[in-house]
Amino acid sequence: MTRTGINAILALTALLAPATAAAELEVNHLGVTNTLVRVKADSTYLILPVQESIDDARINVLVDGKIADTFYVRMAKSKTDYEVPFDLTPYKGKEIVLDIVTPQGRSSVREAKEDVCWKGITLADTFDTSDREKKYRPLYHHTPLYGWMNDPNGMFYKDGVWHLYYQYNPYGSKWQNMTWGHSTSDDLINWHHEDEAIRPDGLGAIFSGSCVVDTAGTAGYGRDAVVALYTSAATNQMQSLAYSLDNGKTFTKLSSNPVITLESEARDPNMFWNEETKEWNLALAHALDREMLFFTSPDLKHWTLQSSFGKGLGAQGGVWECPDLFPIKMADTGETKWILICNINPDGPFGGSGVQYFIGDWDGKTFTADKDSDGKINTKWLDYGKDNYALVSWSGAPDGRRTVIGWMSNWQYAADVPTTQYRSANTLPREIGIFRAPDGNLYASSAPSPELLSLRGKTVASGKGNIGKAGKSFKLPTTNDGACEITAEIDARKGGNVSFTLSNALGEKVTMIYDTAAHTMSFDRRNSGVTSFSENFPALTVAPTRENNGKITLRIFIDRSSIELFGNDGQFVMTNLVFPNQPYSQLSVKADGGTARLENLKVYSLSLK
Ligand code: FRU
Repeated sequence: MTRTGINAILALTALLAPATAAAELEVNHLGVTNTLVRVKADSTYLILPVQESIDDARINVLVDGKIADTFYVRMAKSKTDYEVPFDLTPYKGKEIVLDIVTPQGRSSVREAKEDVCWKGITLADTFDTSDREKKYRPLYHHTPLYGWMNDPNGMFYKDGVWHLYYQYNPYGSKWQNMTWGHSTSDDLINWHHEDEAIRPDGLGAIFSGSCVVDTAGTAGYGRDAVVALYTSAATNQMQSLAYSLDNGKTFTKLSSNPVITLESEARDPNMFWNEETKEWNLALAHALDREMLFFTSPDLKHWTLQSSFGKGLGAQGGVWECPDLFPIKMADTGETKWILICNINPDGPFGGSGVQYFIGDWDGKTFTADKDSDGKINTKWLDYGKDNYALVSWSGAPDGRRTVIGWMSNWQYAADVPTTQYRSANTLPREIGIFRAPDGNLYASSAPSPELLSLRGKTVASGKGNIGKAGKSFKLPTTNDGACEITAEIDARKGGNVSFTLSNALGEKVTMIYDTAAHTMSFDRRNSGVTSFSENFPALTVAPTRENNGKITLRIFIDRSSIELFGNDGQFVMTNLVFPNQPYSQLSVKADGGTARLENLKVYSLSLK
């Protein structure tokens, strides 16, 4: 055969070679815990197989022998639970090496080579993010496309768009590789998934923080630049700055980061412009000291420590995290009070995570909490369910609104809930207010955001009248897996308890009881469906209803795996996850030990986009 003939055959073989020919992806075992994967980055993704029960492997991405990225993946050993994509586009056209150190020592390289991940690792131009968790993934709450999510953070509102960032692991459905995921919405209900906004770097993972729109350009990046402060978390925790000139899509990190360092663990910086003092103010969680620190700055880069608040106050049995500080004008008196949010974990009201707050005054440097009528600064909770944590507010919300959102889970079991493609949703958005309760004290309310009214569809059941022991039953919608809003007004001055039970044909149920003598609402999810994944999940939570007249109004939102109960316009709130094996199909309302008058009970189906 002539040389041209050989070349022609070689060219033909090359053409016929599969896309993942050895030259494009080469796996090289170096020892029982170390493997090099050489990749020609022509495809969009390197698909990595994950086994949830395996410990993380450390992956260094080498470009020209230098470490360009480091991340952690539970590389599958005996079975693949799901796959995650590693984005190759930043390395397009280059040859890169993944230096992978797996944690489990095998007895021999031969055994290590059998790990299923080495056969499953592939190149691809697409990654399937279509929803595979239709049983529990909520329909009108924000969830990540795939992977793990915890705290909402860095939220700001600009030009009609609500920006939501969140603690995100793009490489698995358990906590790791903290990155700021990003979603946007123009109605707080329908969310659009954006690209990851801030990724880990040499200073560490990107923990929670906040964003502001720097309207006057005080930081030097021009007017209306979006400036983020977040915690760089590695061996230590420090605060770093990044700015965005494209409305929060991409961020540039300050080369001189960090901007705040301390000698002890501090995180989750939350800043705002103080119009009275013409300075930036910042609250920072001094986590292990169980207090919040306050700083001021003229330019978002240079911060001066001014004061601290919280030592020995409120719940102290866990770390203090994710602060927020904002003014609220009281509806009745017009007086302005400040709310300091101090999320705490553990030692929440029913174990694990909880949203604690203090009401008081802020003079630009110091927070002073009000004493209650008993002369004490009492512990106050924003939510009396188990599943609202790391709640913070949007910066710059329109019309003077103080709109907040929480992470709808609890550190006690967030990584064990029965979903895998994604883990965790956010709560519904809520509006904060302050009210004076019959005990003479001030409390914060959190009512459903007005946008939620737009979800109301058909009234599928309604009722009014006196309720006794026999009670009344109402059908829940059959559409959208029973997703609905229930409203009711109850006048129970004639005493007794009024119970609301959601149930399905399998006998799974959630019972909510208004105890008119104790002025409490309880929420029992012990028989709600799948509960065995954590001993901390089956629970009975109890909220004070903060009324003294036997009258309450309720709005209850159900969305596949969550129930949010708002009483008296958010004066008491309970957010609880549930995992029924079938959607709840019925609501029954009964009064025990008296009669109660029911008004305006309505079950609305929801019109979802
Ligand atoms: C709260 C928290 C924050 C931290 C983040 C890390 O849930 O512990 O304090 O910034 O999660 O993901």
